[in-house]
Amino acid sequence: MSGREPGPVLLSMRGVGRVHGHDEAAVHALRDVDLDVRLGELVAVMGASGSGKSTLLTIAGGLDSPTAGTVTVAGDDLGSLSTKARARLRRRSIGYVFQDFNLVPALTAIENVALPRELDGVAARRARAEALEALAEVGIAELARRFPDELSGGQRQRVAIARALVGPRRLVLADEPTGALDSVSGEEVMRILRARVDAGAGGLLVTHEARFAAWADRTVFLRDGVVVDSTGAPSRAEHLLAGA
Ligand SMILES: Nc1ncnc2c1ncn2[C@@H]1O[C@H](COP(=O)(O)OP(=O)(O)O)[C@@H](O)[C@H]1O
Ligand SMILES: [Mg+2]
Repeated sequence: MSGREPGPVLLSMRGVGRVHGHDEAAVHALRDVDLDVRLGELVAVMGASGSGKSTLLTIAGGLDSPTAGTVTVAGDDLGSLSTKARARLRRRSIGYVFQDFNLVPALTAIENVALPRELDGVAARRARAEALEALAEVGIAELARRFPDELSGGQRQRVAIARALVGPRRLVLADEPTGALDSVSGEEVMRILRARVDAGAGGLLVTHEARFAAWADRTVFLRDGVVVDSTGAPSRAEHLLAGA
């Protein structure tokens, strides 16, 4: 966090806008957003409900396309890739962590984590080795054979983080990953996300709690789809959100 040289840019958004609908019904979910996330950097996104946080994440991850501007991930302009190439880049480079974990209930922890690698054509044996490594990194290798319903909420979220960063994936997009957790598990998930980013990843984290944003290197504030401020000081977050 402090005193480290910033790494190369993983995610770059320039002039990004997203309009839903047309004419009178048009909703500007995002307007003219510029944002970079570098390797080793965790950036928090805060803002009131409906301010465009989830839209920002889905566009950063190539799940939705902007109606204006450009998004570059690891040097590739998402808008100029074919649908197939974009899907491949998503599978290889980008991981999502959701509030409700989104694990496959019929698969064990290790199978859940190995799944994106197997979908990317990696041989099962190697995918499992990579999955075990990712689970070890989030401190739950011993739970590899458990099913999601045999894990606590915090443990499930660790599995989701391992899945988001298995293999060569380096960009993690987390949409309120602590939203369904008690405060102790929430802090633990943040500690793991922070450590994983420090070990060689970049993260974009949506949260509405300043104490979780405090784990980030900086915080970007959205209001009505516009970045209204960007700061490293979480106390400023509370100030701004109080006025939102
Ligand atoms: N598919 C959609 N169609 C129309 N409007 C949408 C759609 N998705 C999001 N929006 C609108 O875009 C704005 C931003 O939504 P969202 O990104 O989900 O905000 P947040 O995650 O900050 O709560 C909201 O006004 C929302 O209603
Ligand atoms: Mg949202």
